[in-house]
Amino acid sequence: MHNKIIAGFSKLSKVRKVQWIVETFFKDPDMVMNELISYWHPGLQSILDGFIENSIGNFPLPLGVAPNFKINGKVLAIPMAIEESSVIAAASSASKFWFDRGGFKAEVIDMKKIGQVHFRWRGDKEKLIHIFPDISQKLRDDVKPIIRSMEERGGGINSIELIDFTDKIPDIFQIRGEFYTCDSMGANFINTVLEQFSITLKNYFISGDHFQGKEKELEIIMAILSNYTPECIVHTEVSCHIDELANDNSINDGKFFAEKFKTAIEIATKDPFRAVTHNKGIFNGIDSVVIATGNDFRAVEACGHAYASRTGTYQSLSKCEINNGIFRFWLDVPLAVGTIGGLTRTHPIAKRSLEMLDNPSAEQLMKIVASVGLAQNFGAVKSLITTGIQKGHMKLHLSNILTFLEAGEKEKEIISDYFENKIVSFSEVKAILEKVRSGKFNG
Ligand code: MEV
Repeated sequence: MHNKIIAGFSKLSKVRKVQWIVETFFKDPDMVMNELISYWHPGLQSILDGFIENSIGNFPLPLGVAPNFKINGKVLAIPMAIEESSVIAAASSASKFWFDRGGFKAEVIDMKKIGQVHFRWRGDKEKLIHIFPDISQKLRDDVKPIIRSMEERGGGINSIELIDFTDKIPDIFQIRGEFYTCDSMGANFINTVLEQFSITLKNYFISGDHFQGKEKELEIIMAILSNYTPECIVHTEVSCHIDELANDNSINDGKFFAEKFKTAIEIATKDPFRAVTHNKGIFNGIDSVVIATGNDFRAVEACGHAYASRTGTYQSLSKCEINNGIFRFWLDVPLAVGTIGGLTRTHPIAKRSLEMLDNPSAEQLMKIVASVGLAQNFGAVKSLITTGIQKGHMKLHLSNILTFLEAGEKEKEIISDYFENKIVSFSEVKAILEKVRSGKFNG
């Protein structure tokens, strides 16, 4: 361990960085050094290192696939990067379930993004409001070269608004821009435009002759996009007659299932404690596709949870109704994702994931991601109200324990049969495996 600052860490070579880490924090530096280096990718390491600062290697995460997703009639296999067991199994079983019942019907409602420049100004508010159309024109004029290529692709600035924030914080105003960013998530584009807005604003107030004396003093607080994008939103749904819900394993009675399912969704609408877990299940699906396609899952999560709280109470993002015998289950979720820019084309696996999805536009990706979120939610709630989720979890948990204990194929088979209807614990599995190995196991 060490207790003083390390100067110039970022300037060390990668090997030196790893060396310092292993010598400072580990009991067996050579072994850990070799282990960390064993995860370096022979061909791609310099690309991966280029994404971040102070890279010392890679953090492997499994990439799985959920097949049989029918979305607006098109069938896709979905790449999902996730560490949690049962998520891909649940998505796959839900996609298969809905395949024969019409699949997912998804629609993008809007793709508007928001950016803000906050500034402090002590002056005549009415005068500012009056002159704002002129300021707004100047802001647009000065970003013309920056936005030209986005405009050529059909995007750009939708609107620029002055927001008076002084009732919340004295002397604080906001320039709020609305943007369309086509197939890119847009963070870079929006932030570049906003930083130019800041320069233009300062020039307008300080150097221009519109204001005098104290009113010339404008302080930019910050310029940054908002990750809250309630108007970059997608709707997806599944529906069928309640009689069609019955299947040959967990659902005997479609009507009974539909009503119980609807009650589960109502609970997640009224009870934030349940809603958080419920939405976490939705994000199990959403995040894994967002990660696999090289998008920003923190932005998507932060926005989704803010959206879930938009009424003042945190609620389920998905909704359910039964009308004239038709069961309908849907999700409206804000998703700011892109299929160009960022990591989407530079990360080799993200690029392949997008290829697997037939190189979707951002709009198509929004529909795919939301449908996986809804499928995940359907799978989780279906399990919860029928078999419970532990059954599915336990299978993989058991398999992980057996792999850890280096069980052979035959041993795995015997022990999996034994635990079919029993509670799995590490100690119990270990004890049974020992019995099998010593010939004392008799079923
Ligand atoms: C586990 O990762 C997700 C669930 O808890 C979601 C839910 O409870 O709806 C199963």
